[in-house]
Amino acid sequence: MTETQSTTASEINRVSVIGAGTMGAQIAMVAALAGFSTDLIDIKEQQLEQARTSLAKRLDRDVQKGRRSQDEVDATWDRMNLTTDRDAAVKQSDFVIEAAVEDLGIKKSLFSELDELCPPHTILATNSSNIVSSRIAEATNRPEKVCNMHFFNPALVMKCVEVVPNPQTSSETVATTTALAEAMGKDPVQLHKEVPGFVANRLLNALRKEALDLYNKGIVDFQDIDTAAKTALGHPMGPFELMDLVGIDVVYLIRLAEYEQTGDPASLPDPAVKELYEAGRYGRKSGHGWYSYES
Ligand code: CAA
Repeated sequence: MTETQSTTASEINRVSVIGAGTMGAQIAMVAALAGFSTDLIDIKEQQLEQARTSLAKRLDRDVQKGRRSQDEVDATWDRMNLTTDRDAAVKQSDFVIEAAVEDLGIKKSLFSELDELCPPHTILATNSSNIVSSRIAEATNRPEKVCNMHFFNPALVMKCVEVVPNPQTSSETVATTTALAEAMGKDPVQLHKEVPGFVANRLLNALRKEALDLYNKGIVDFQDIDTAAKTALGHPMGPFELMDLVGIDVVYLIRLAEYEQTGDPASLPDPAVKELYEAGRYGRKSGHGWYSYES
């Protein structure tokens, strides 16, 4: 392992987020709001424009509600660089958060390219909740600077960030990533070792599995399961509403990735989720999932 420089949180000036989907866009905004120069990078211009529009709506609402001043919002946009020019952006980055598609092959080639492009001190984190970073770190020459940094949806609101080291991640990388999460106004949860799904999603999966089982057996409508989760357990959303928020495609692909890692048929996506996925019913973002969101 080559000896490389290490970075402390106070030395992080520029954060680059790769992937301008639901998660990436809000993660980048959290960084920009916290005062970091931030790149939001995507291969598609249209995805960046969509991200700009939905983030602008959120921030404008904050101004209308008196939660932020217009000056703060203007200064935040000044710190945000929405770009398709990944290579130019990451060359100046101190910390990269990858929030691209849940596909191991894509992540490995991306991390290998980032390793070539980024300065030696740059930490390369993945927002993946299911692909553990040891599987990606091997594509780089800096495995000690690779870890999972997992945000929750909606990232602007949810306080939890899971920081997960792989066996080669250095303690400096864990400390810097944790400190960055704190600087972004989050409450980090540090895992000692890798486990697919980490903590919160494993808890959530247990609930979701039971909910789908009750529904698939025809015992109760999914709407009533959501009602029970909210009115009996005090959850802000029921498990089906939450799948629509997170994205049926995300739920499906996470399970598929888990199956690929474990080979355990019990990890395969639920048939009802698979059906929605194959019908393109991805939840809120496509206007239809378990529920319909068409106005
Ligand atoms: N993006 C950003 N902010 C949002 C938002 C969104 N999509 N939806 C709501 N908010 C914010 C807004 O500030 C909103 O206030 P305003 O309407 O005044 O602007 C505030 O939250 C309250 O929203 P609502 O009144 O519409 O609804 P709510 O009180 O139910 O809150 C919620 C919405 C915060 C999403 C809440 O329902 C909640 O906490 N749900 C559970 C979310 C959850 O469990 N997330 C984890 C998912 S698992 C995951 O993310 C893991 C993974 O690996 C993908």
